[in-house]
Amino acid sequence: MTLSPEQTQAAKRQAKPFLRVLDGEIVSPPPVWMMRQAGRYLPEYREVRAGIGSFLEFCYTPDAAVEVTLQPLRRFGFDASILFADILVIPDALGQNVTFKEGEGPVLEPIRDLSGLDKLDVGGVVGNLAPIFETLRRLSVEIPKTTGLIGFAGSPWTVAVYMVEGRGRTECERARGWAYRAPAEFQKLMDILVDATSAYLIEQVKAGAEALQLFDSWAGVLSVEQFRSLVIEPTRRIVENVRKSAPDVPIIGFPRQGGIMIPEYVTETGVDGVSLDHSVPFDWAMREIPETCVLQGNLDNRLLVVGGDALDRGVDTILEQTRDRRFIFNLGHGIVPQTPPENVARVIERIRGSG
Ligand code: CP3
Repeated sequence: MTLSPEQTQAAKRQAKPFLRVLDGEIVSPPPVWMMRQAGRYLPEYREVRAGIGSFLEFCYTPDAAVEVTLQPLRRFGFDASILFADILVIPDALGQNVTFKEGEGPVLEPIRDLSGLDKLDVGGVVGNLAPIFETLRRLSVEIPKTTGLIGFAGSPWTVAVYMVEGRGRTECERARGWAYRAPAEFQKLMDILVDATSAYLIEQVKAGAEALQLFDSWAGVLSVEQFRSLVIEPTRRIVENVRKSAPDVPIIGFPRQGGIMIPEYVTETGVDGVSLDHSVPFDWAMREIPETCVLQGNLDNRLLVVGGDALDRGVDTILEQTRDRRFIFNLGHGIVPQTPPENVARVIERIRGSG
């Protein structure tokens, strides 16, 4: 019997527990991956990193990006793998000057007015990010048959924070101030980012991404009014745009520290899954977030540094609270560089021993 392309595709997705959950099943034990699972906590990552000049060059070198994406899979057997890149490739592709300083994180030449926005190369995104699509094409061939492949982007608000502040700043005061003072101007920036991000994600799907995650790391600093206009509305538009071209590719949103606004975020944006930061209690999330939405999260990344009994208890609590729900185990925020790799292995063993 020969299978139709749709049947082949369905059989491929069925072999991947991460996608089975997003496609509608409860899977026990739950699939697990971790934000920032590729990174400096792994000696093999540091070795590849040392051989390449700048961090962005690293993101644009498919050989290196494929290698470091695969490293945590080989070591830990995660159920999903996330493309190795960064949310700040979008401002870079738009022509803003972006650099990564050792020990300091990203530094951008800040945009503070309309003349800065006018200089952006709005049409350049897909062409300029060609190496990233090449990385995805290679990964879709090289990852194990049971592993899902996640593409991602930063959400417009979070990317705008870096573009306007010039770096990550906890209060995001310039970006929030601009948005209150001159909403139409700030909207222009959001519109540019909605279009660029939609095009970027659609191209990632064409290159092999099987699910997408939108990182809104600075969602938690906003008032209710700005959360609606700067987090929910742009995310809703991106989900709508991506669905037009890729209706079956699940989208996970991560409105970090969105608190009581998270249920509204889920309902209004139409995301298929939501990643929860470690401040969100699962018993609350199970009640307040519609069952049609997959929950993901939310182990405190600090516990992964601490290890031992405290870590085991943290894992067990999450497993107990998420039973009978479509759930993907993850952290509340990315792995930090000081994490001992053996603690990551310990979490995975504990989860897999629980089903
Ligand atoms: O494994 C993965 O999760 C995939 C790769 C990935 C990176 N960054 C690689 C990276 C992903 C998904 C990101 C997302 C990202 N980048 C976010 C959203 C998630 C979050 O953490 O809130 C943000 C805000 C950024 C911006 C960014 N990139 C910062 C603030 C920094 C510096 C801090 C740090 O950890 O160094 C980066 C650099 C960065 N992005 C590194 C990696 C592996 C470290 C760079 C290095 O190796 O020198």
